[in-house]
Amino acid sequence: MSNGIHSSEVQIVLQTDDIPITEAKIPPFQMRRLIEERGFQYPSRNIIFHCLKGGASKTTLAYNCAFRLSQLGTRVLLVDLDRQANSTYIFFTKQPENVFVDVVTGQCPIEKAIFPVFPFLDILPSSLDNARLEMELINGKKNPRNFYRNLFGPIRNRYDVVILDLPPDLNHNTYLSSLFADTIVIPTTPDEFSLYGMKLTLSSLEGMQQEYGELQQDVLIVWSKFDPREKSAFHHIAELKDINGARVFPIVIRTDVSIKHAQEKGKSIFQLNRKSSAKDDIDCLARELVGMREFFSPQGNA
Ligand SMILES: Nc1ncnc2c1ncn2[C@@H]1O[C@H](COP(=O)(O)OP(=O)(O)OP(=O)(O)O)[C@@H](O)[C@H]1O
Ligand SMILES: [Mg+2]
Repeated sequence: MSNGIHSSEVQIVLQTDDIPITEAKIPPFQMRRLIEERGFQYPSRNIIFHCLKGGASKTTLAYNCAFRLSQLGTRVLLVDLDRQANSTYIFFTKQPENVFVDVVTGQCPIEKAIFPVFPFLDILPSSLDNARLEMELINGKKNPRNFYRNLFGPIRNRYDVVILDLPPDLNHNTYLSSLFADTIVIPTTPDEFSLYGMKLTLSSLEGMQQEYGELQQDVLIVWSKFDPREKSAFHHIAELKDINGARVFPIVIRTDVSIKHAQEKGKSIFQLNRKSSAKDDIDCLARELVGMREFFSPQGNA
């Protein structure tokens, strides 16, 4: 092959159950060429990770999917909208000068608030300053339907995928983010409190969809932190079928200590050179989000 990649390597990286990108060390721009040569077209998607329940894995799934998608040749912007700034500290070592609230108030053009952190992965970081976001959003009289779309307008065509990591709130920010989204991922852990949070999140989305009837959104419930030793987890997962227009992702994200190891090092799990169950699961989720799983493996491997 002209780009120096052996065809057997290509075959490996396009399987759905592999984790070879870091091992094969194929840079994202080459991955993109290889994948496009196979006929896949990278879609344009606005994806939010949203759940009222705290600790449901929004941040963990958002930044790991963002990183994985960038490895797979997707041009990704990760936007941290949580004042806790957990996603930010994985990829960004400085205190950001400007965050989303400064873009909302017009103090900073969006281009200036965005930083490249890896090939094909940029971040719009967060800080405690985003605590002002809600007040600024309420004070400004904005057209909710297109407000975030217009804010991202100047840079939107630089990316295939924009991923928003949301705080555990139901407020104006999460409402505007939900209107911006084509795909709404609701991470849920298999326990009573988390289920309750997930259902509240779903009913808030229903309210929004009743108001704006034409919204065509993919709502995906993702079970996370699944531990097969917990009997109640099986029970919750078996009980929950597709509800209220949402799909339940058939692959659960297993509890895996590698997630914490990677976080302690300020890394994505895909930067650790070892096999892990959560890596396999999040890889499937990332591919699902851009339609790559269906395209390369119509049978699925769930
Ligand atoms: N699959 C997993 N295996 C092990 N630990 C996990 C897994 N997913 C998430 N965690 C851990 O669970 C904790 C909460 O995860 P995370 O911060 O992603 O949740 P969150 O929904 O973003 O929380 P918040 O609502 O506060 O923003 C973190 O300490 C994270 O390391
Ligand atoms: Mg979070």
